[in-house]
Order: sequence, then structure tokens, then C-alpha cells
Amino acid sequence: MIRLGIIGTGGMANTHALFFKKIKDVQLSACCDIDLKKAEEFSKKHCVKGCYSDLNGMLRNESLDAVSVVTSDKFHHPVVMKALEKKLHVLCEKPLALNNKDAWEMAGAAKKKGVINNINFSYRNSFGAQLAARMVKKGELGRIMHVDSYYQQSWLVSAVWGDWKTSPGLLWRLSTKMGSNGALGDVGVHIYDLTTFIAGEISGLNCLLKNFKKTPDSYKGNKLDANDSAVTLVKFKSGAIGSIYTSRYITGHPNDLKVGVYGEKGALEIYLNSAPQAYEELRVCRGENALKKNSWETLIAPATPNMYERFITGIKTGRNDQPDFAAGARVQDYLDASFISDKKKKWIKV
Ligand SMILES: NC(=O)c1ccc[n+]([C@@H]2O[C@H](COP(=O)([O-])OP(=O)(O)OC[C@H]3O[C@@H](n4cnc5c(N)ncnc54)[C@H](O)[C@@H]3O)[C@@H](O)[C@H]2O)c1
Repeated sequence: MIRLGIIGTGGMANTHALFFKKIKDVQLSACCDIDLKKAEEFSKKHCVKGCYSDLNGMLRNESLDAVSVVTSDKFHHPVVMKALEKKLHVLCEKPLALNNKDAWEMAGAAKKKGVINNINFSYRNSFGAQLAARMVKKGELGRIMHVDSYYQQSWLVSAVWGDWKTSPGLLWRLSTKMGSNGALGDVGVHIYDLTTFIAGEISGLNCLLKNFKKTPDSYKGNKLDANDSAVTLVKFKSGAIGSIYTSRYITGHPNDLKVGVYGEKGALEIYLNSAPQAYEELRVCRGENALKKNSWETLIAPATPNMYERFITGIKTGRNDQPDFAAGARVQDYLDASFISDKKKKWIKV
């Protein structure tokens, strides 16, 4: 039995609990949140015995094998470093940290301790994305020329997840002081990962960030100054060029992603949204379809494990599956380069 602790018991922690409960040999042993009321509610809802507001107390009292870190972004680094000191296996939410120095420190520490470490880039749960990455790697699309990706959200113009003006879980995401790197750090991190997972590494980028005027413009005395939108031109190591954008102001699109990869011999596209079948599908244009008809077929990709299963299987087998902390730190390099590019208004090599 793998004894697991969940740290941070807000919205996303419920998803962790539901997925982990489905895996054989996992016991949700303890949970912790700086807000004890939230930890108590979570512990009751998910039948978790140990309940704490103090992380040190949880790590001291419970004999855990692993933790899932689901706090708000700025606490990922200190919380993960504490868990690693105890030699616990760690699944950490994205983004790994707020900057690449911290992210690489976490990757280095996890490697040194020899524990299983994964970052929850949850869109890798898509079977279509896994198949797409394999196809590009095998050269099935030929030389890649173009990449076209986006991550669209609408919660700043829609009450899809509640009114952002009164939702603490959304408001911290708008403030750099509260530890958010804006839309780019929150969901740009997903689309940078998914795009590079499928299309290969980035060698340079030029990014434009935008914070739109909004009312209210502060929360608990903190300015709502984080980027709402990011538009990035990208050069890939392969020689391909492309664009990636993300925004919380894409009216009519609550949570929609696309990765398109266009090569000399063929092209593929994945579209992820709330439709469950979207996670199984991959659109492909190749062979005669590409040469003569420009028509697309929809493939149903074979099933692959989700991130929670990858983490637990890693613990059982001792083999660290994708994506590990180093993958999270590499994406953090792209994020940091994007902030520098926006500030200096120029291309940045990564
Ligand atoms: N992978 C995904 O698809 C996905 C989706 C949503 C959120 N997330 C990530 O999950 C994390 C949590 O997001 P959320 O939407 O649940 O936010 P949230 O604000 O609802 O929950 C965060 C919780 O962490 C607690 N917390 C903060 N600092 C803490 C600390 N030091 N120790 C213990 N608890 C602490 C807060 O009190 C809060 O209850 C974020 O990093 C976010 O980026 C990932």
C-alpha cells in the first residue's frame, strides 16, 4: 500500500483525490492546508484520516511514502523541498516553480534523493497527444515546417467557473504579488509543454504579454497586474517555426486547446476541450489525403496511463515516467525566456 499525503486542499486537490482513489494500492493517508477549515472539509469529503494545517506536523506524525503538492503556485518550491528532505516521492502541480532557478533546484534535489518525481502536465493524459508525439518522433510527418498552438480560456469574460471578482481561487491567479505568473504561468505552461512534447524543443522565442485594465484592479491590497494574455512566436530546434498563444479573454471558449503540427509528408492536430472523446482523438492529414485532397481522418489513439497512474507505477517499479521535474524545469526555461523577451522586446535564445 502506498501511503499518500495531499498538500493544498483547494479545487484541484479534489481531482487528485478522485484519480488516486481509483488506483489500487493507494491509500489517501493525510491532507494538509494552511486553511484548516478547508483541510477538514477535504478530509471529511474524501475520508482522509490525518488532517493538518501545519506541513511540518504532517511530515513528522504521518509515515508517508509520497505526497501530491496542490498548493497555489508560489508554495510549490518550499513545500516540495521539504518533502524531498524526507525522501518522499513527489507529484507536483504545474508550474513547477515561479522561476527556472527554483525549478532546476527542485529537479536536482529530486534526482539526488533518488525519488520518483513527476509534474502534473495533465494534458499529457490525452491519448491523442501521446500518439502525436510518437508519430513526430518517428518522422511520420517528414520535416516539420509549422506549429500552431493555443490555450484559450474565457473566465475573465464569463462566469463559467464563478464570478472571478469574488472567487479567491481565481483572484490569486491575477496578482504577481500573490505568486502568480499570470495566464502564461498558469495555463501557458501547459501549452508550452504539450507543444514541445509533440513538436520538439524550442530554440528561441519572442513573446508579447498583456495585462488588460479591469475592475476591480486589486485584491486584498494586491494589484491585479499579472498577464491576462501571452502571444509567442517560436523557433524550434528542428528548424520549424510557429506560434503559441494563451489568454483568459477568449470569449466563448471556456477551456480549449489546440496543437497543430504541419510537416512535408503530413500534418496532425489535437483539439482538447470538455468533450471526453477529445482526449482519444487525433486528426491526421497524410499520404494521398495530403497530396491530392487536403482531407483529414480522425484516428482513435490507443489508451495510455494518466499522470496519477504514471506516478504510482513509477513508485512501484522504481522507473521514473514522463514528465519528470527536469521536464517541468525545461518548460520553466521557456516561461522565463518569455518574460525576458516581453521586457526587452526582442528574441531570446533558450
Ligand atoms: N494540472 C492541471 O490541470 C491543474 C488544474 C488546476 C490547477 N492546477 C494547479 O493546482 C494548484 C492549485 O490550484 P487550485 O485551483 O486548487 O487553487 P486553490 O486556490 O483552489 O487551492 C490552493 C490551496 O492551497 C492552499 N495552500 C496555499 N499554500 C499552502 C501551503 N504552503 N501549504 C498547504 N496548503 C497551502 C490554499 O489554502 C488553497 O486551499 C496550482 O498550482 C494550479 O496551477 C493544475
